[in-house]
Amino acid sequence: MPEAPASRPIVFVLNGPNLNMLGLREPEIYGSDTLDDIAGMLEDRARELGLDVDTRQSNHEGHLVDWIQHANAEGAKAVLLNAGAYTHTSVAIHDAIKAVTVPVIEVHLSNPHRREAFRHVSLVGQAAKGTVAGFGALSYLLALDAAAKL
Ligand code: DQA
Repeated sequence: MPEAPASRPIVFVLNGPNLNMLGLREPEIYGSDTLDDIAGMLEDRARELGLDVDTRQSNHEGHLVDWIQHANAEGAKAVLLNAGAYTHTSVAIHDAIKAVTVPVIEVHLSNPHRREAFRHVSLVGQAAKGTVAGFGALSYLLALDAAAKL
C-alpha cells in the first residue's frame, strides 16, 4: 500500500467584517486584491513553506471567537487574524486569543496607526504574539513567514 502523504501543519487565516469586500472596498487604502486573491497567494506561499492554510471570513464577532477557540482542536499550529474593525472594539476576541495556546498573529492591510484615532487602539494586538500591518496583501504573506518560524 502506498503511504498516505504526511499532512502539513495548518495555519488558520481568519478575517473579520467587511474583508469580504476587498477589491471593491476603499481600494486606495486596502488595494485591489480580493480576499480570494490573497487566499491564493497564501496557498502558494504555504506550499513553499511546507504548510497548509485555511482561510475564513465572517462579519460576525462570535464566529471569530469560535474559530479562535477551536483552532487548537482543529489542528491549527498558528492563526493569522485580521479582525477588521473588531480589532479596535472586541474584548471577546481579545479574551479568546488569551484563552488559547495557539499563537495568534495580528494582520492588517493598512497601518492603523497612520489613520483615524479610533484605530490606534488594538485589543487584538494587546493579546497577539505579534503584528504585521501596513504592507497591503504582503502583510499576510509576511505573517505567514513568521508563523512558519514559530
Ligand atoms: C483593517 C484595519 C481596520 O481598522 C479596519 O476596520 C479594517 C481593515 C486592515 O486590514 O487594514 O476593516 O483591519
